[in-house]
Amino acid sequence: MSRPTRREHASRKDEHLELALRLHRTDRPNAFDDVSFVHHALPAASTREVDVSTSVCGSPWPVPFYVNAMTGGTPATARVNADLARGAAAAGVAIACGSQHVALRDPGCADGFEVIRREAPHAFVLANVGPTVSPEQAVRAVEMIGADALQVHLNAAQELVMPEGDRDLRHWSRGVADIAAAVDVPVVVKEVGFGLSRRTVETLAGCGVDAVDVAGAGGTDFIAIENARRPDQDYSYLSGWGQPTALCLLEALGGEDPRLPVLASGGVRNPLDVVRCLALGACAVGVSGHFLRTLSGRGAHGLEQELRTWTEHVRTLMTLLGAPDVRALRRTDVLVMGRTAEQARLLGADLDRLARRSG
Ligand code: FNR
Repeated sequence: MSRPTRREHASRKDEHLELALRLHRTDRPNAFDDVSFVHHALPAASTREVDVSTSVCGSPWPVPFYVNAMTGGTPATARVNADLARGAAAAGVAIACGSQHVALRDPGCADGFEVIRREAPHAFVLANVGPTVSPEQAVRAVEMIGADALQVHLNAAQELVMPEGDRDLRHWSRGVADIAAAVDVPVVVKEVGFGLSRRTVETLAGCGVDAVDVAGAGGTDFIAIENARRPDQDYSYLSGWGQPTALCLLEALGGEDPRLPVLASGGVRNPLDVVRCLALGACAVGVSGHFLRTLSGRGAHGLEQELRTWTEHVRTLMTLLGAPDVRALRRTDVLVMGRTAEQARLLGADLDRLARRSG
């Protein structure tokens, strides 16, 4: 494929933002609805003593959820990044920027990403590239925003449906391994909403990465977004492709210690979804669509309030579950039902054990 011009690349970013907002459905049912907790009426916990902090790649995070990768590279998306970063910084939340490819090709676009570090000087910030950049470009992406970690996104479904997307995906694992060897911050490989299978996670462990974000289905759907950008809409039958986030966690963890630390994102709608992911073994939980919609509807101050509310609600839910810290959530009794249970069993998850593990 020919490389996109600056103008083409930049307008794609604006379209993604606009379509993600237009197609986003608040409180749409998804596979998290198949995951519930056994209620025990004597939780023996105190909200004041519940510790909601977590640890990601050896760094302490005060809050176990984060603003996941979205955007940057145009004047409009720079404003979004500034607002997201301001809210994240005020609420002690980590934040990832969107793909920096446009700024690696054209340094004139870098400010739309650098703004995140300016607005959130002390936050844990993640840079973002795909597996096709060179190791030198990956290093530059990290330096551009003084990042604490680097996300590498795997977006095969998106590329193939994107009218101007890559069609040759043969060298991605080599690319990930070369990037992981070159950068001196932790590398977190993520999907963009179609999920990482256990097989993929195992391959990534062999590539020398530090963690994965399963970024499963159930929220922002990049097949639907790219399809809406095609004049002929001819891939609409693919909507719903991929594994939902809850299923990815059930498969990746499989009841055993995973080979890599696992973060989760994709379709997280509320604090209960955050706690579900943590209980299924995620060390932190990423949110894009919902926070973007919050920013768009309620502005930067509304986003900051939402981030603070989620933090308090996570604390409340942990109290209800008798979990004094995030790790203790992994000993709660979780019931997985319906389609997710059927799929998880096919992938080898021990759901009976999960339902009775607190005893
Ligand atoms: C994204 N996402 C994304 N991911 C990534 O690694 N690099 C990127 O540049 C982008 N760009 C992007 C733009 C917009 C507008 C959205 C909403 C999302 C994907 C994102 O990080 C996440 O994996 C998915 O959106 C699934 O999470 P939600 O939206 O269901 O919470």
